[in-house]
Amino acid sequence: MTTGAQQGSAGIDVVAEADRLEAQAVAALDQALVVPSVLYVSGDRDPRAGVPMPRGRRLLIGDDPRLPSMPEAPRLQDFFALRFGPSSHLLQSARRAERAGCDDKAVLACLLHDIAVIGFIRADHGYWAGQLVAPYVDDEVAWAIQMHQVLRFFPDPDFDYEYPQMYVDFFGPDFVPPAWLKAEHDRARKHRWYGTARQITCNDEYSFDPNATISLDEFDDLLGRHFRQPPEGLGFDGSPTAHMWRTLAAPTRAL
Ligand SMILES: [Fe+2]
Ligand SMILES: [Fe+2]
Repeated sequence: MTTGAQQGSAGIDVVAEADRLEAQAVAALDQALVVPSVLYVSGDRDPRAGVPMPRGRRLLIGDDPRLPSMPEAPRLQDFFALRFGPSSHLLQSARRAERAGCDDKAVLACLLHDIAVIGFIRADHGYWAGQLVAPYVDDEVAWAIQMHQVLRFFPDPDFDYEYPQMYVDFFGPDFVPPAWLKAEHDRARKHRWYGTARQITCNDEYSFDPNATISLDEFDDLLGRHFRQPPEGLGFDGSPTAHMWRTLAAPTRAL
C-alpha cells in the first residue's frame, strides 16, 4: 500500500495511480490465486509442512498482474528495468572497472556480477548469476561472475584486495568460511581466468556515492558487443537457462 502524494513529470498523481493499479491487481488476483513457491517462504514456514493449495480457486498461470508487463521478447535491459531492484551498485562497479582500465570482459562481469542479488536469489548468488548469463556471454565472463562470490571472502595482496570490513559487519569477526567455500577458492586460484574474477572483487565496492546516477544506457555499446541477446527474447530461445529467465519474468506462475 502506498501513502502520501507525489506528482509525476506528466502531472499524474503517481501515488493515486499506484493505488489504482494495485487495486486492479488485487481484483485480478481474486480470480487467480498465487501459491508461493516453497523457496520463497522456506524458513518463514517449515518447508516440510508444504504450501497449502486451497481447492475451488483458480491458480495464477500467467503473468502476475501486480508486476509491470514484460515485452514479448525481453532483452537484458528489460529485466534491469522491470524485474530487478536498484542496480546502482552494479553500474558503479562497472564504471569503476572501466576507469581502472579493465578490458571489456571484466567490465561486463562487473556489470552483471550481482544480478542474482538484485533480482533472483541471494544464496549462491554468483553461481546463479553466472549460470543465468552463461549462454549469452563469453565463458570467461560467466566463470568470473560465478567465482567472485567465493573470492570476496579471501584477501589477495597481489591485487591489493583485503577482506571487506563490510563482511566483518555483516557476518561478525569470528566468521570462518566453510570448507566448500575454501575449496572453491583454492580451485579458482589455479584457474586461468582467476584474474578476471578477482577484478570483480577489486571493483565490488559498497562505499560509492549513493547519489551518483548512472544509466544502464552507458553500457549499451558494451552489451551490444558482448551480450548475445536472443531474437526470441530471454526465456524463449530454448537455451539451457531460458527457464530461469521465464521464472524471473513470471515468478508467481503456478507451474
Ligand atoms: Fe556479489
Ligand atoms: Fe557486488
